[in-house]
Amino acid sequence: MRTQVAIIGAGPAGLLLGQLLAKAGIDNIIIEQRSPDYVLGRIRAGILESVTVDALERAGVAARLREDGLVHDGIELAFDGRRHRIDLHVLVGRSVTVYGQTEVTRDLMAARQAAGITTVYEAQDVSLHDFGSARPVVRYRKDGMAHEIHCDYIAGCDGFHGISRQSVPQTATQTFERVYPFGWLGMLSDTPPVADELIYASHERGFALCSMRSRTRSRYYVQVPSSERVEDWSDERFWDELRRRLDPQSAQSLVTGPSIEKSIAPLRSFVCEPMRFGNLFLAGDAAHIVPPTGAKGLNLAASDVLTLADGLVGVYRHDDKRELDAYSARCLRRIWKAERFSWWMTSLMHRFPDADDFARRMQQAELDYLISSEAACRALAENYVGLPY
Ligand code: APR
Ligand code: PHB
Repeated sequence: MRTQVAIIGAGPAGLLLGQLLAKAGIDNIIIEQRSPDYVLGRIRAGILESVTVDALERAGVAARLREDGLVHDGIELAFDGRRHRIDLHVLVGRSVTVYGQTEVTRDLMAARQAAGITTVYEAQDVSLHDFGSARPVVRYRKDGMAHEIHCDYIAGCDGFHGISRQSVPQTATQTFERVYPFGWLGMLSDTPPVADELIYASHERGFALCSMRSRTRSRYYVQVPSSERVEDWSDERFWDELRRRLDPQSAQSLVTGPSIEKSIAPLRSFVCEPMRFGNLFLAGDAAHIVPPTGAKGLNLAASDVLTLADGLVGVYRHDDKRELDAYSARCLRRIWKAERFSWWMTSLMHRFPDADDFARRMQQAELDYLISSEAACRALAENYVGLPY
């Protein structure tokens, strides 16, 4: 087989890139190791920056998002028994949209299928070759048969554990990593959200987040030690723990019910530099990870692939390589700022097992400063709605 761009991975990064390229008349094939059901079974964050919404519009997949997405003009911070609203819209003139990543993926998959573009699911032993040359090759096996795709470029959109970054010699990359000593236990339930907007709660017992997927479906998280096992958390234990970490008003109005899903996610910050190796480009979680505080993961993936799509359009449509050559440096500038924000918000809101009394007082002083200073609130709001790129 031959194509212009071979995309590894059918997560949101790979699917959005495929859609943007197809819209621009650039031929692409996606090679994914899992099944469509598996890809759709993953539950992840659901906050879209306005630039991400614009990207989905540009890709022609925003109809359902426009209909079902919940536009939020603010978020709430809860600590010391009280809630404090940060009015994103008043502070920076922009909002965020609550729309589950699973739904984004579903819309992108449907659009790709409707356009009849090739996606190879359940590809085994995917391997990348000759990407240092002008004739890269992707090999894989499916149903016992060996296949080869010849292409001009490879886009590595295969997530943190994917093969793309691992295919690059270690001497060609520099990686930066921080692993946090706790995880998030998340629970999904068909209960009305406790509040109209998201609540980020900092408490002696640990962080908690009240989020949502719709007006009837809630997504809640509590910080747990990394060693925790999901089997040890009954629904009752989860609800009790969440209630204890919220302000009294929220705790009282919390509607509980059976869980649909429960899982524990580790928290990590990670960046790989650069993001280009010859004709292989890394995008999304393949190149960087943020802790979920601030919900930047999907948004960064979207800004990477928008930049990559623009670069490829420059090459194929205008015979101009400048945008593509600037890809890695341009993405990394935005990525590092989102890394900083996610790390900062994580450090501010969580209980760290090794934090001494001084560290705790610093957190309390910073929270107090945040709610009493418009400048500090604006800095948070500017980052939360997404920096320009
Ligand atoms: N070959 C082919 N596909 C692979 C391989 C491989 N060797 N390894 C992984 N994949 C696939 C995974 O099965 C997955 O479907 O690549 C896809 C990567 O998708 P994500 O992990 O969702 O990564 P990305 O698209 O960059 O997502 C960015 O979405 O998933 C969240 O936390 C993520 O919020 C971030 C955003
Ligand atoms: C979510 O809804 O899953 C979510 C929302 C905000 C975050 C992280 C996760 O910061």
